[in-house]
Amino acid sequence: MSSLPSPARCPFRLDGSAADIHGEAAALRALGPAVQVELPGGVPAWSVTDPGLARRLLIHPRVSKDAHRHWPAFIHGDLPADWPLRIWVDIRTVQTAHGADHRRLRRPLVPAFTARRVRALVPWIENATSTLLDDLAEAAAVAPDGVVDLRTYFASRLPWLTVTMLVGLPEAMHDRFQAINDTVFTTDLTMEQTDATAAEAARLLADLLVIKTEHPGDDIASSLVGAYHEGLIDERELADSIWMVLGAGYGTTANLLDHAAVNLLTHPAQRDMAVSGRVGWEQVVEETLRHQAPVASFMMRFPTEDLSDEATGLTFSRGDALIINYAAVGRDAAVHGADAELFDITRATAREHLAFSHGSTYCLGAELARLEGRIALSALFSRFPGLRLAVEPSFLTPLPSLIFNGHREIPVCLEGTSNS
Ligand code: HEM
Repeated sequence: MSSLPSPARCPFRLDGSAADIHGEAAALRALGPAVQVELPGGVPAWSVTDPGLARRLLIHPRVSKDAHRHWPAFIHGDLPADWPLRIWVDIRTVQTAHGADHRRLRRPLVPAFTARRVRALVPWIENATSTLLDDLAEAAAVAPDGVVDLRTYFASRLPWLTVTMLVGLPEAMHDRFQAINDTVFTTDLTMEQTDATAAEAARLLADLLVIKTEHPGDDIASSLVGAYHEGLIDERELADSIWMVLGAGYGTTANLLDHAAVNLLTHPAQRDMAVSGRVGWEQVVEETLRHQAPVASFMMRFPTEDLSDEATGLTFSRGDALIINYAAVGRDAAVHGADAELFDITRATAREHLAFSHGSTYCLGAELARLEGRIALSALFSRFPGLRLAVEPSFLTPLPSLIFNGHREIPVCLEGTSNS
C-alpha cells in the first residue's frame, strides 16, 4: 500500500518554477504556522512558516533528515520515478543524516571552518574580490552598451572561487563542476537531465578522489579522503560530501551577494548609510539574510514518531515530510513588526533570522559567508560609486528553484567608476 497521504490532504501546490517565493510564503503564512503543501512531482509535505515552530522542530531529537531511514514514502518506492527533488534526499552527507551519523559526517568538515581558519582567509578573499572587480570593469569596458551581469562576474564568482579553494578542487576541473552545480540547483529538471547530471557528477568525483589520494593537501577533499581511508565514512559518503560542500558554499553565498547588491541598488538612502559607514556592512548582510533568505526552503525532515506541538496545537505524523520555509520565517511580523516585508538595514531585529538554520545542523559555513558578504559588498560599492541596475527591478527574473533564492542575472552599469 502507498505510504503517500492522499492528494486531497495537500491543497497548496508549490510552484516549482519559484516565480514568486515571497508571495507564496505570505500566502502560506496566512494559512497557519505549518501548512500541508504539494511539492513538484505531487509529493506531499508540510511547509513550516512560524519561527517558533521552526526552531522547535529544528532542534527536536525525534526529527530526522535521513530519508533512507525515516521517510516511508522514499523507503517503499512510493515517490514518482521522475521526482525532480530526489537527489536532495538521496545523497549521503551531513545534510541528510541523523544523530550519530550526522556527527560522524560533520566531523571531517569542521576543521576547515574554525573561527581561526575563517579569519585567516581575509587576505585571500580581499585579493580575489579585487581581481574580480578588475574583471568586471574589463567586461563592462568591452560590452557594446557597457552592461555586465553582476551575478556571473561577481556574486557567484567569488563564492565559487572560495569554496573550490577550500575543497581543494584543481583549477582544470572548475568549469565542469560549476556546470553540474548550476544544473542541480534548479528544481524543474526532467528525469533525463537529472540522470545525465548524476552520471557526470560521478565521473568527475571519481577523478578528484584519485588526485586527492595521490596528492593530499590541507583542504576539505583531503580531509574527507583521510576519513575514508580510516574507515569513518564510506565511498558514497565521501563522493557525495565533496559534491555537497561545493553546492552548499556556492549558490547560497551567491544569493546573499546578489540580493544585498540588488537591495542596495534599489534603496539609495540605505546604500548611502552603508557606503558612508553610518551603518556597518555586517548589518547589511544580516538584513539581507533575514529579508531574502538565500536558501528559501527545503532540506526535508521527518518525525521519527508522532509529534504534537503544544504551542500551535499541530500534530505531525511519523514519516511526514517537513520543510522549513526560511523565506517566510524571515518576514514574520510578530518578530520583525508590520514592516517585515521591507528591506531596512537599521532594523533592530535583523539578526533574528534562521537563514543558517538552528541547532546541531546550523550552517558550518555561516561565518565564512558573512565574511565574504562584508568584504565583497564594501569593495563593490566603494570601487563603483556610480553602480546602477541597467534594467527596471521588475525585469530581474528569479532562479527557477524552490530552494535557491536569487536572480538569473543582474544587468548593471558601472557608471562613475573610480580606481582609487
Ligand atoms: C549565505 C550563505 C549560506 C546560507 C544561507 C546557508 C544556509 C544553510 C542552511 C539553511 C543550512 C542548514 C540546513 C538544515 O538545517 O537543514 C546549512 C547547512 C550547511 N551549510 Fe550552509 N549556508 C550558506 C553558506 C555556506 C558555506 C559558504 C558553506 C561552506 C563552504 C556551507 C556549508 C554548509 C554545511 C556543510 C552545512 C551542513 C551542516 C550540518 O548539517 O551539520 N554553507 N547552510
